[in-house]
Amino acid sequence: MAKIVGAVTTSHIPAIGGAIARDLCEDPYWKPLFSAYPPAHRWLGTQRPDVAVIFYNDHGLNFFLDKMPTFAVGAAPQYRNADEGWGIPTLPPVGGDQRFSWHLIEQLVGEEFDVTTCQEMLIDHACTIPLALLWPGRDAWPVRIVPICINTVQHPLPSAARCFKLGQAVGRAIRDYAEDLRVVVIGTGGLSHQLDGQRAGFINKDFDLEFMQKLPGDPLWATHYSIPELVELTGTQGIELLMWLAARATLDGEVKTIHSSYHIPISNTAAGLMVMEGGNP
Ligand code: DHB
Ligand code: FE
Repeated sequence: MAKIVGAVTTSHIPAIGGAIARDLCEDPYWKPLFSAYPPAHRWLGTQRPDVAVIFYNDHGLNFFLDKMPTFAVGAAPQYRNADEGWGIPTLPPVGGDQRFSWHLIEQLVGEEFDVTTCQEMLIDHACTIPLALLWPGRDAWPVRIVPICINTVQHPLPSAARCFKLGQAVGRAIRDYAEDLRVVVIGTGGLSHQLDGQRAGFINKDFDLEFMQKLPGDPLWATHYSIPELVELTGTQGIELLMWLAARATLDGEVKTIHSSYHIPISNTAAGLMVMEGGNP
């Protein structure tokens, strides 16, 4: 049977891609960010996942305002990246696992999550930056992926409680898969940031730290906030924390924190990283 080895949640700030391309990991501005990742590399090296299920939010590369699914699941043989205009190099395609994707889709629809199915899907920086951060310096990606996109662009957004339930259903579906796959679940985005408008540059360190502290043992804490309340607390793009909730929700039993880091700011954003393991893999 498939096994969830754990969950990794990380920010996906596009400027990180530029810093990697320009080899700035040791630069004083960037070092505090990049030095947070080696414990995650060691953990992934021990866990050796075959597949990464990635909760992420597209920013207009694959879905635009004319057609915006609330939840979309990739079922492609391969996922290509493309230029989004951030000036970061395009990364090589990542292989998919179609059989596993369709199993997840079948089970999610069976549980009344009526997801959009994507047999072609471009992945944006919200997928590629975490891959580059977690598996640096690779010519070929060591994992296949199943991207799961949650709308954070066009309101109405799904509630935190709904995203948590989606994560729980994905966790059940992974554990029900008959193949002996080792699966890491990744949630990308956040933490607090607002890129435009009157509150551009808004960061809420107190809320972020409380969110990270509560996420392993009391994840429902954050689900009691409405979407407008979360936007107020974390900024218009800080709402990307929904990905962290969905990823955490796939874990069962007593969840422990293997590694955690928080650094402000990178670009306009609070950069967070957590590695968690569930009690019943
Ligand atoms: C920034 C952060 C993001 O999460 C994003 O998707 C785009 C930009 C930023 O801080 O610049
Ligand atoms: Fe983003």
